[in-house]
Amino acid sequence: MTRRMLARLWSDPRSRKVRRRLQAAAGAFVWHAVARRGMVGAVAPSSTRLARAMAVAAEGAGRVVELGAGTGAVTAALLERHAAATLTAVEIDPHWAAALSRRFPGVDVHCAPADEVLQQLAATDEAVVLVSSLPFRSLPPYWHARTRAAIERFLLADPRRRLVQYTYQPRAPFEPEASAPLVWRCRRTIWHNLPPAWVWELCRADAAGR
Ligand SMILES: C[S@@+](CC[C@H](N)C(=O)[O-])C[C@H]1O[C@@H](n2cnc3c(N)ncnc32)[C@H](O)[C@@H]1O
Repeated sequence: MTRRMLARLWSDPRSRKVRRRLQAAAGAFVWHAVARRGMVGAVAPSSTRLARAMAVAAEGAGRVVELGAGTGAVTAALLERHAAATLTAVEIDPHWAAALSRRFPGVDVHCAPADEVLQQLAATDEAVVLVSSLPFRSLPPYWHARTRAAIERFLLADPRRRLVQYTYQPRAPFEPEASAPLVWRCRRTIWHNLPPAWVWELCRADAAGR
């Protein structure tokens, strides 16, 4: 995605509504994004279209675990689409985690690193879908390595589990460990987001295409 394409998308009158919503949420988000750049990895909260696309990609989940829930844009879409599923939201930032608990009293919010929560859920027998906004392309190496390893362990343990993840580039969010039989599939491109995003799915190779 070039800067010119982004500028064109931003000035398109059809994206006025998206632009207004993004600007309203931008104040608090930008403050956090600047202060914790690598951990946040975005310039604005996820748009409604991206959030809904993530929720659609989690179809069939008995339990949804959202990683890096931030301001709750994806959480809201997950609640709307998966009313019958158990929803757990994980957010490492205490300020955003507290705001999530206040906004979504029915959601099990964990203020903790994603890898710790995945370890606690390792033995669950439910068909879990991980829905992640974690910024793998900007996470500091320490956080990248432990989070990626925890997700891979979690997925490899059960073929019903999968990860739904978005990126801001048309390439896979991260490269799995060479020996891990996991495969990425690109599900959708969402142009109405700042910046545009690609929705990806990661699952065990023997479960791909089911
Ligand atoms: C791109 S932002 C969230 C975007 C979110 N969809 C929204 O609309 O607000 C990524 C979030 O992941 C959180 N995060 C980063 N590393 C984390 C980790 N290891 N465990 C849990 N949350 C983490 C950040 O604090 C940040 O809120």
